[in-house]
Amino acid sequence: MIKVNFKSETDDKQTKRILEEIKKDKMGGWLELPRKYDVGELVRIKEAAKRINAESEYLVCIGIGGSYLGHRAVIEALRPQGETKIIYAGNSLSKRELEWALNKVGDHDFSINVISKSGETLEPAMAFEAFKKKLMEKYGAEEASSRIYATTDAKKGTLHDEAIANGYTRFVVPDNIGGRYSVLTAVGLLPMAVAGVDIDKLLEGAAEAVETAVEPAVNYAYMRCVLDKRKYDTEMFASFEPSTMYFNEWLKQLFGESEGKDKRGILPDSVIYSTDLHSLGQYMQDGRRNIFETIIDFPTDDLNAKIVAAVRIAHTEGGIPVLNISVPSFDEKGFGELIYFFELACAVSAKLIGVNPFDQPGVEAYKLELRKLLR
Ligand code: PA5
Repeated sequence: MIKVNFKSETDDKQTKRILEEIKKDKMGGWLELPRKYDVGELVRIKEAAKRINAESEYLVCIGIGGSYLGHRAVIEALRPQGETKIIYAGNSLSKRELEWALNKVGDHDFSINVISKSGETLEPAMAFEAFKKKLMEKYGAEEASSRIYATTDAKKGTLHDEAIANGYTRFVVPDNIGGRYSVLTAVGLLPMAVAGVDIDKLLEGAAEAVETAVEPAVNYAYMRCVLDKRKYDTEMFASFEPSTMYFNEWLKQLFGESEGKDKRGILPDSVIYSTDLHSLGQYMQDGRRNIFETIIDFPTDDLNAKIVAAVRIAHTEGGIPVLNISVPSFDEKGFGELIYFFELACAVSAKLIGVNPFDQPGVEAYKLELRKLLR
């Protein structure tokens, strides 16, 4: 069970109202999902993963933002020893990066999991075109289509239409779950299963958290709000496990896109200690006092635990509010709990500061400018 080391003042009536609002929101489908996961869909995901493992040395996972960061976070953290290696593409428009990925796959057998809820996002669409061409050249149209797994909207979008027309294996991003809350759907579960992550254990942890994470997540959300009001406008997520770097990236995306709107929201940033004690550590100890620190405290060895304790003391003495979130285990179950905990805490926090946790109107601005430049 996730535990926190602080107790904030909460308003039970307000909390009840917020939780009800999230439950009823048309994008609140993730709230109950781990407890009622569709067993048939889970079987299909596992079967697809088995097929990919049997046929492919590489799975190219194409997606960006919420269609990418969650599964990468878990896969990189747990380093599962699956038979198929995962390569990521479509999370930038860098030609250099795309060529690197194409060369890395080289002559190896591969499949593609293209993930886009809208099915229209430029970065994944470009990478998909390039990898599809490679797949067609290597296997011919028919086999190529059988090696493409499309995770997208159930009814609409360019990717949806293409998947239907060509008979790709399809998985659905539920209508009522947005990108950054979708890691525990097929968006995250298929790549994780292919990589060798035990997705049953992950969902088990998340399902437990549906009950057990509510109190600590609400407590944490209120504490963030108090700190925000006291002008601590930046949250530094700190982990002492280097392999959780992408979990930090997922957190930044989750909180940044959920809260940063209407000129409000706490700026999420992250460090990996002790590596970053030799870089941002200086700023944390001695810089401007507008930052609070949230330590994600995984079970660890004695020496690493001593560094956690030392940092906690030094930073507290240096005037930084330090929050501690302790995770029961560094495995699938622990990550399932942690993912659910942060999703809930983030949605409640956004509601407390008065913004919609589930939209991202600001992301459209750059797309508009890019479209103009591409005309
Ligand atoms: O969290 C979100 O909603 C976004 O980060 C999206 O996941 C991201 O923009 C990718 O969108 P799509 O899955 O439609 O390609």
